Amino acid sequence: MIFPLPVVIFTTLLPISLCATTTTVSTSQQGPVVSSDYTDSMAFRNAVLNGTNTYRRQHNATALKWNETLAEYAEKWSDRCFFNHSEGPYGENLASGYPNGTASIAAWGDERQSYSFSSGEFSKKTGHFTQLVWKATTSVGCSRTNCTAKGDGTAPGWYVICEYWPRGNVIGQFADNVQSRVKDPDPAESYRLIALEIQLLK
Ligand SMILES: *[C@@H]1O[C@H](CO)[C@@H](O)[C@H](O)[C@H]1NC(C)=O
Ligand SMILES: *[C@@H]1O[C@H](CO)[C@@H](O)[C@H](O)[C@H]1NC(C)=O
Ligand SMILES: *[C@@H]1O[C@H](CO)[C@@H](O)[C@H](O)[C@H]1NC(C)=O
Ligand SMILES: *[C@@H]1O[C@H](CO)[C@@H](O)[C@H](O)[C@H]1NC(C)=O
Ligand SMILES: *[C@@H]1O[C@H](CO)[C@@H](O)[C@H](O)[C@H]1NC(C)=O
Ligand SMILES: *[C@@H]1O[C@H](CO)[C@@H](O)[C@H](O)[C@H]1NC(C)=O
Repeated sequence: MIFPLPVVIFTTLLPISLCATTTTVSTSQQGPVVSSDYTDSMAFRNAVLNGTNTYRRQHNATALKWNETLAEYAEKWSDRCFFNHSEGPYGENLASGYPNGTASIAAWGDERQSYSFSSGEFSKKTGHFTQLVWKATTSVGCSRTNCTAKGDGTAPGWYVICEYWPRGNVIGQFADNVQSRVKDPDPAESYRLIALEIQLLK
């Protein structure tokens, strides 16, 4: 049998509305300190690249490069504040309601706990993770929008969208593209490499 086109499954999970939509701030003598990478573009980009490439390294995939075309595409979609997929040409992950970019990416990466590396199949529960570490993907661009009181209410709080190219979650290619966790590299070396990647982007 011939399948001329790759079959790509989109992960359409329900909004993660159970997750905190606000950051709990502990008061110190200096007063409350609100620290979020959402409010600064470069901090957001760094958080996304660090989070993404940390998971990718742990699953033996090369680091993704930031791509502005993808980021602009993501932004057009996140700005509508609808929690659904754009169904465009890229791989696409959605998250809503997490306190910062790192936490949004980790929500996807931590789906690996439910993924069966031996069967290597798509599942709605793990589709964000498999896209995140998909070996053949080389670039990413993401956006975040404050969707509080915006859109149709399905993406409460901060809404994060990442677009991936070439896209992952191609049926029949999971075993080749989603690798099990490798021995953790030296953390100091990881941070050095991540810092270098971030430097190169500036
Ligand atoms: C980078 O991402 C990893 C994975 O989420 C996280 O554990 C780590 O704290 C992040 N590092 C920085 C500097 O944000
Ligand atoms: C990691 O990927 C490389 C290149 O694709 C491959 O040669 C190597 O065997 C992989 N290592 C592990 C532990 O899977
Ligand atoms: C960014 O991604 C788009 C879409 O895949 C591609 O056409 C473009 O060449 C990429 N830009 C860079 C600088 O790699
Ligand atoms: C996403 O949701 C919005 C609002 O419900 C709807 O107008 C739009 O058609 C949906 N888009 C897709 C691609 O399903
Ligand atoms: C991001 O949010 C997580 C979860 O609330 C928190 O543990 C972490 O410290 C935050 N990171 C930054 C950089 O604000
Ligand atoms: C997010 O939007 C809400 C509603 O407009 C606003 O009250 C809040 O201050 C915004 N948050 C940030 C960090 O800008």
